Amino acid sequence: MIPRLKPTIGARELIASLRPPRRDDVERFEQSFAELMGQEYALAFPYGRTGLILLLEALGLKDKEIICPAYTCVVVPHAITYSGNKPVFIDCETDGFNMDLNSAEQTINEKTGAIIATSLFGYPVNLDQLDEIQKRHPHIFIIQDCAHSFATEWNGRPVQKEGIAALFGLNISKTLTSVFGGMITTDNEDVYKKLKIIRQQRLKRPGWGKGFRRLLYFLAVYPAFWEPVYGLINRLERLGVLNYFVKYYDDTIIDMPSDYLEGMCGLEARVGTANIGRYEAIITTRRAAAQYYFKCLIDKPDFKMAPKVDGATYSHFVVRVDDRERWLQLAIRKGIQLGWLIEYNLPEMEAYGDHKPDEFPMTADYARRTINLPVWGGKTLAQRIMRRI
Ligand SMILES: Cc1ncc(COP(=O)(O)O)c(C=O)c1O
Repeated sequence: MIPRLKPTIGARELIASLRPPRRDDVERFEQSFAELMGQEYALAFPYGRTGLILLLEALGLKDKEIICPAYTCVVVPHAITYSGNKPVFIDCETDGFNMDLNSAEQTINEKTGAIIATSLFGYPVNLDQLDEIQKRHPHIFIIQDCAHSFATEWNGRPVQKEGIAALFGLNISKTLTSVFGGMITTDNEDVYKKLKIIRQQRLKRPGWGKGFRRLLYFLAVYPAFWEPVYGLINRLERLGVLNYFVKYYDDTIIDMPSDYLEGMCGLEARVGTANIGRYEAIITTRRAAAQYYFKCLIDKPDFKMAPKVDGATYSHFVVRVDDRERWLQLAIRKGIQLGWLIEYNLPEMEAYGDHKPDEFPMTADYARRTINLPVWGGKTLAQRIMRRI
């Protein structure tokens, strides 16, 4: 079974995970990460969402409205809520996955504290438009959500550098991974210092138990994505047996993982540092797969694609189909897991549900119709997949 995602990890990450710990493992990872992103500072967190909660606190935002996409990962509004603020959802633009920035600007009022600008699936957010918004509303912070946008650029400008700070997720489904983990990057010394102090106050030091749990998880992940094994994993997943590991939200609850305030452990930092060495290759591979899909699917009316954008890096290659379930089943029969990624319309979730059903039409459409073609194996994998479906 070809998995819909697969972390790019190998012997060097395995060796890094087993190496004796050093006291400065996390610091080294932060330095390498900041350098990679071309930023002055990086601070590591147990999850990207933890970083976002504490960043909002470091920016002094409390009881504010935080503008975020209606079509994004559920953990984003959860983190906003946990920080003592209120998420304000914005529908997607009509020809792309990202938030409609015109609607976002219309929503700004004196209670607005920040905009979470997300380059979803690695499609760059329009930085020129964001610049204009920032000029007209200087009191608002722009936070780049780069969980999907490693190396993503808008007209040659790296998205992570355009705003007060950027947020990265580093779990095994992400472009770069540190097993779990997240990172906040910034060029602003004041924000860095405040966030570092808050992190020290709010996060507890990771105990040996966390390191041990992460090691077991990593050793289990390592072979799980191997194609002969993955068929079994996929069957168990469909039976619901793996829900504990793969189901990351409940429609009715705003919550966080039990260890969201336990700092990143050394093992995660060492794996992340090792994984950074593969960065260029990972991005090139994903772009090559995406180019191939674009070429093959351009004249196939069953697959509706977002327009091609220079600077996109395709954390996922996502297309819309009319009958998603039929395509998913067909692919499974051919030994391919297509899967979906964000299959919910956040404002319609019970946890946030004070919105009208037709208020976010683009998000509703994506939530119902998107499928996700694997990009982790580059053009060769894309060719295998296109030959089968
Ligand atoms: C768009 C987006 N933002 C933020 C995050 C937060 O990452 P984490 O799972 O590390 O909290 C994710 C994670 O999946 C994401 O997809």
